[in-house]
Amino acid sequence: MIHGSHVIVLPFPVQGHLTPMFQFCKRLASKGLTSTLVLVSDKPSPPYKTENDSISVFPIPSGSQEGKDPLQDLDDYIDRVYTSIKNHLPELIQDMKLLENPPRALVYDSTLPWLLDVAHDHGLRGAAFFTQPWLVSVIYYHAHKGSFSVPSSKHGHSTLASFPAFPMLSANDLPSYLCESSSYPKILRIVTEQLSNIDRVDILVCNTFDNLEEKRLSEDKNYGFSLFTAKSAECMEWLNSKQPNSVVYVSFGSLVILKDDQMMELAEGLKQSGCFFLWVVRETEMNKIPISYVEEIGEKGLFVSWSPQLEVLAHESVGCFLTHCGWNSTLEGLSLGVPMIGMPHWTDQPTNAKFMEDVWKVGVRVKAEADGFVRRDEIVRCVGEVMGEEKGKEMRRNAEKWKVLALEAVSEGGSSDKSIDEFVSMFY
Ligand code: UDX
Repeated sequence: MIHGSHVIVLPFPVQGHLTPMFQFCKRLASKGLTSTLVLVSDKPSPPYKTENDSISVFPIPSGSQEGKDPLQDLDDYIDRVYTSIKNHLPELIQDMKLLENPPRALVYDSTLPWLLDVAHDHGLRGAAFFTQPWLVSVIYYHAHKGSFSVPSSKHGHSTLASFPAFPMLSANDLPSYLCESSSYPKILRIVTEQLSNIDRVDILVCNTFDNLEEKRLSEDKNYGFSLFTAKSAECMEWLNSKQPNSVVYVSFGSLVILKDDQMMELAEGLKQSGCFFLWVVRETEMNKIPISYVEEIGEKGLFVSWSPQLEVLAHESVGCFLTHCGWNSTLEGLSLGVPMIGMPHWTDQPTNAKFMEDVWKVGVRVKAEADGFVRRDEIVRCVGEVMGEEKGKEMRRNAEKWKVLALEAVSEGGSSDKSIDEFVSMFY
C-alpha cells in the first residue's frame, strides 16, 4: 500500500448513482488505489471491506424508515440524506486522516456540490462525479448560467434548443425538469446547481466514454454489479430456452413508476407484438397486472422483480431492450450491443432517448400522446421495427459498433482506461 493512495467516494443513495460510483471504486482498486465508499443507508451496518480489502464500505444512517420507498416523498428523502452527510462526514474524514493511509480526495456525487467545500476544508481534493451523460451536464450548465431559459410548460412549446455540437433539441428531448420548470422545483435546482462551482472543482469524472460523446472527460466501465439480490437463475434459465434475438427485455430502472393504465397498455402492446418478453416489475407494482393476463401470456412472458441486467443484456436471446433510458441502462445496452426502444419518463431520460435514436442510431423512441401516454399500437410498432429485419438490422449493426468502441475505451490503453490512469496517478 502506498501512502496517500486512498480516496473517499460518496454517491447519492439511489441505484442509478450507486452502481457507477461503486464500479469506479472497483476500477480504482484494480489500479492499486484504496477507496472508502460512504453509503447513506436506511439500515446501516458496521463498516466492512470488499474487493480484497481495497474498498471499505462505511454505512451512515439516512434517518429514513427502513424499506420506505424514497419516491413516496423525494423532497423529504433528499433533506434527510443531506442532513445525514452533514452530520457524519466531517467526523468520518477526521478519523480517516489518522489512518496509516489517509484519504487524499473526496469523490462526491455531482448532485452534492457543497461537498467541494467540505473536501477543501479538510485539505482534500474535490472530485465531482457525474452519473448522467456529459451532454446532459452541458445542458444543465447553460440553464444554470442563464444562457438557456427554462420553458415553464412542455406542451405547446415548440421552440428548438441549440447547444454547441448537439443536434437541435425540441422540448420533448430536453431533460424533463427543463421542460416543466414547475414540476419538481427542488430537483430542478439540484440538477442545475451541480454545475454551480464547476470552475473550482479539482477533478471532473463522468460516466461515459470518449467516442460516445465527443470532447468528453473521463469514465468508468459500468459492468457487473447490483446491490439487490437478483433472481439470476430463473431469468437465465428462461432465456436459455429461447432462440437468439427473440426476447424483448423490459426494465425501467429503479426510480420509474408507471401508472396503472400505462402498465396495462404496455402489457397489451407486448402481447400483441407476439414476441417473448422478460419484464422487470417491482413487487409493489405487480398488482397492476391482472393474474388472468399472466396466465394468458404463459411461456411468452416472464415477470421478475429484479434481474441481473448485465447478464440479461449480454444473453444472445435478448434482441431488444425496452428501457426508460436511465443513463446506466443506456450505457449498458450500448456497451453490450443491444438495440433499444426508449420510453423515457423524466430527468435526463428524454435527452438520452433522443441521442440513442438520432445520434447513436441504435433504436427507436416511442411516440407518446400529448399527455405522455404511450398506446399499445405504438409499442407494437416499435417492437416490430427493432426486432424486424429492415430497420432492425441497421440498428443491430450500429449497436455492435458501439459495443466494440465501448470495449476499446475500457481496455488497456483505451481512452477511458487512460482517464482512470490519469486519476490514479494524481495520488501516487
Ligand atoms: C437514475 C436516472 O434514471 C438516470 O437517468 C440517471 O442518469 C441516473 O439515475 P435509474 O432510474 O435507476 O437511475 O436508471 P439507470 O441509470 O438505468 O440505473 C439502473 C441500474 O440498475 C442499472 O445499472 C441496471 O443494470 C440496474 N438494474 C435495473 C438491474 O441490475 N436489474 C434490474 O432489474 C433493473
